[in-house]
Amino acid sequence: MLLNSFEKLMMNNPVRATIQRRFEARRLLAMGGPLPGGRVLEVGCGRGVGTTILLDVFGADSVDAFDFDRHMVGLAQRRHTPRPNVHLWQGDAAAIAAPDGAYDAVFDFGIIHHIPEWRVALREVHRVLRPGGRFYAEEVLDRFILHPLWRRLCDHPMEDRFDQRGFERGLEACGLRVTASWPLWGHFAFFIAEKPA
Ligand SMILES: C[S@@+](CC[C@H](N)C(=O)[O-])C[C@H]1O[C@@H](n2cnc3c(N)ncnc32)[C@H](O)[C@@H]1O
Repeated sequence: MLLNSFEKLMMNNPVRATIQRRFEARRLLAMGGPLPGGRVLEVGCGRGVGTTILLDVFGADSVDAFDFDRHMVGLAQRRHTPRPNVHLWQGDAAAIAAPDGAYDAVFDFGIIHHIPEWRVALREVHRVLRPGGRFYAEEVLDRFILHPLWRRLCDHPMEDRFDQRGFERGLEACGLRVTASWPLWGHFAFFIAEKPA
C-alpha cells in the first residue's frame, strides 16, 4: 500500500533517519548480531537510509533492496548511485523477485504492516532466506494502527492486523523460529527470527 503525503513526510526527514540509525538499528544489532560479509535483502527500503545502515552498521557485503513505491525507489537510487554492491528495484514484498535461499538476512524496517496480505510476505521472507539465515524486523502493531488519531492521519490496511504475539505466530506459521522479540510502548515491536538450518 502506498504511503500518503503525511506518512511520506514522517519517513523522509533527517529525524526519522537518525532514529532509524541510532535507535532501531542498534536495537536490532543487539538482538540479532552483525552480518559481516553477508548478502542482505531489505524489503520496503523507502529512500534507502536502511540500506546504508546495513552496509555501515551491520557490515553487509551487498544489499538488494526494493520498495513498492517507484518514487521511493528513485530517491534510494539517487542515494546509492554508483555503489556496485547495492541493487535496487520496484517490487512487492508479497511476491519477492529473488530465488529461494538467496540471502543471509532479510530486513524489515517498519513495512510489513502496510501489506494487507502480510502473512504472504512472511512466507516470502522465509522462502528467500538461506537455511540458518535471519529475519530482522521492526514493526508497527495493531494498537498504533487502530488508534483514532493515526487512523485519521495514515493509510494503513485495517483488517487482520497483528499484536506482538500475532506477528510471532505469523513468523512461526511459515517456519521461522523466533529467537528474540522486544516490545516498545505496546505500539511497536522488534523481532529476530531464524530459518532453521
Ligand atoms: C513506513 S515506510 C518505511 C520506509 C523505510 N523502511 C524506513 O524505515 O524509512 C513503509 C515503506 O513500505 C513500502 N511498502 C508498502 N507496501 C509495500 C509492499 N507490498 N512491498 C514493498 N514495499 C512496500 C512503502 O512504499 C514505504 O516506503
